[in-house]
Amino acid sequence: MSSSQPFEQSSPTAGGDATKRSKFTYRQLAHLALSSVTCPLRVIAHIDLDAFYAQCEMVRLGLPEDKPLAVQQWQSLIAVNYPARTFGISRMLTAKEARKLCPDAILQHVATWKEGDVKWAYHKDASANMATHKVSLDPYRLESRKILACMKGCLPPDLQRVEKAGIDEVFLDLSAQVHSILLEHYPELSSPPKDLSEFLPLPPTTVLDWKADALVDLDVSETEDDDPDWDDVAILLGSEIVRDVRAAVREQLKYTCSGGIAHNKMLSKLGSAHRKPNQQTVIRNRAIQQFLSDFKFTKIRNLGGKLGTQIVDTFETDTVSGLLEVPIERLKQKLGDETGSWVYQTIRGIDQSEVNSRTQIKSMLSAKSFRPSINTREQASRWLRIFVGDIYSRLVEEGVLENKRRPKTINLHFRHGGQTKSRQMPIPLGKTIDETILFDLASKLLGQIILEGNVWPCANLSLSVAGFEDGITGNMGIGGFLLKGDEAKAARENDYRPENGASDRPEKRQQTEHGARSIQGFFSKQPGTDESEKLEGSHGEIGEIGDWPFDEEDNITATHQIHAPQSGFKNASITSYFCKQCNETFESDNSFQSHNDWHFAKDLHDEDRRLSHTPQPRPKPGPGKKKNKGSKKDAAKSEKGQSKLSFG
Ligand code: CTP
Ligand code: CA
Ligand code: CA
Repeated sequence: MSSSQPFEQSSPTAGGDATKRSKFTYRQLAHLALSSVTCPLRVIAHIDLDAFYAQCEMVRLGLPEDKPLAVQQWQSLIAVNYPARTFGISRMLTAKEARKLCPDAILQHVATWKEGDVKWAYHKDASANMATHKVSLDPYRLESRKILACMKGCLPPDLQRVEKAGIDEVFLDLSAQVHSILLEHYPELSSPPKDLSEFLPLPPTTVLDWKADALVDLDVSETEDDDPDWDDVAILLGSEIVRDVRAAVREQLKYTCSGGIAHNKMLSKLGSAHRKPNQQTVIRNRAIQQFLSDFKFTKIRNLGGKLGTQIVDTFETDTVSGLLEVPIERLKQKLGDETGSWVYQTIRGIDQSEVNSRTQIKSMLSAKSFRPSINTREQASRWLRIFVGDIYSRLVEEGVLENKRRPKTINLHFRHGGQTKSRQMPIPLGKTIDETILFDLASKLLGQIILEGNVWPCANLSLSVAGFEDGITGNMGIGGFLLKGDEAKAARENDYRPENGASDRPEKRQQTEHGARSIQGFFSKQPGTDESEKLEGSHGEIGEIGDWPFDEEDNITATHQIHAPQSGFKNASITSYFCKQCNETFESDNSFQSHNDWHFAKDLHDEDRRLSHTPQPRPKPGPGKKKNKGSKKDAAKSEKGQSKLSFG
């Protein structure tokens, strides 16, 4: 926090009538200290790095800031810096098209793992070798971590609440910190009356100094002459904090980012995207309606995907102002009670979802689509080595060596002829996970799939670990001796379990399942619990890659919502392809296919996540069936159910 006062001091009466009170009570002020989601004074910020991957490359290469640069993945562009954008270069162009627009632009290919290598590197020939290389986004993850640490370092340790919402963005709940600053600056606030429902005095200020912040215009009913109240002061203090955080990131790590400061997550996220790059936007409570009415609601967090499309189709409008006309009863009737109310509130700027600082990774996935397909076990094994290396390096960062966190299961998905075969097995406890263990398990899973026969050619292979648990730190070895029952058996035999007993996952089946999912499926949890955001919204509305344990191999365009693989795609013309979910057009069959694969893999991943988070009822022995403790075969059967239960 900078020491300068963000507002001009004046006497308590300067605003006019001294008997006038704030519209906020002492109780509400107290709630600010608790970061209560219902507190009307709440201050939330969203900070998003500008052209993130591109900036990472600029910083890594030590280039001058005005140098046009785009990050290339095969022939596509996945990030474009702002100088390059002035030449008309965008993510939608191919590298070749970008080169034409700006021959001087640097087109930096992402780092890749080369088939057979144990570490990723920046390879000069990567773009021409899609068949033998796999994209690594590790360099960006590492930078992301540094930036997060820097941001956290700027905030008081005991009052901070930081949610990493993607690889290049965070939400900050600044309420508690703002509360403490308020009390420091206005001692009169720290001696509350007995009756906490009494209204606060008005802030002793007339003019707030918003510095260089982009201020959103006030609602029609409000004027700048109206006296500011404590919510204005709180948001102003929040914007000061964000300015300092951004300055620290810039100074210490050279990155620019943009910020949004508002009353809740949804508004702050819209705010950070409002003016880019390197700016921050403040949306005061008195400006919310004005701000939102200009928006298409499909730009709002969680309204970008299928739900948004559904609403546009149902109510024949895509603007917030159009949808404001729809009475809540009709929204509920068409969208279901829960989603209807959620939409009703959201377009009115109401969002009580909390900033969730528990952002522990739940699974990690590494994958590769093969074009051309691969045909032998040896080829598949070579990729498994790379996947294992990729996952292992992320596990190490998660603290697997110290046994802080460890995954419980390992999964292999194998795509052949439009079908995906999946196998998973528990990762034996008792030993620190290393690459050899992971590779052995992965090879066993591969062996199981191959044994079925008729599996080649393989179009996509993905390996994931899931069911992360806090490990026992300090006495790793002991865990192995303490194992009982299932776990011990799993550890001894590396037993495996086909998922749900059904080994194949035809895409068709998936499509039907997803297609049939009700709209509430997208909001299976109450907005506010944040679990649904974790699941699908971590990519935000503009499709950024979240702290996505998911493979980024084909991440040319990330999605916003879970949806059926393929079903959302249409050919827009003979030569271009359109992804309805992402609202993006693909010029080449290849990039579209990659994109399609991405959706497919994400879907699998989401499904895995869903499986690992939905509590499964323990299968009860049916009538007349006795629990059989006898044969080994039966014991293995009962284990399946149990390992399912403990999964996730
Ligand atoms: N990204 C991607 N595919 C997408 C969206 C994002 O690979 N469809 C990657 C980009 O490379 C990007 C990072 O995720 O650098 C963050 O995405 P986002 O914040 O949406 O865009 P930026 O490139 O950071 O640009 P902006 O300045 O608009 O935030
Ligand atoms: Ca960004
Ligand atoms: Ca982002």
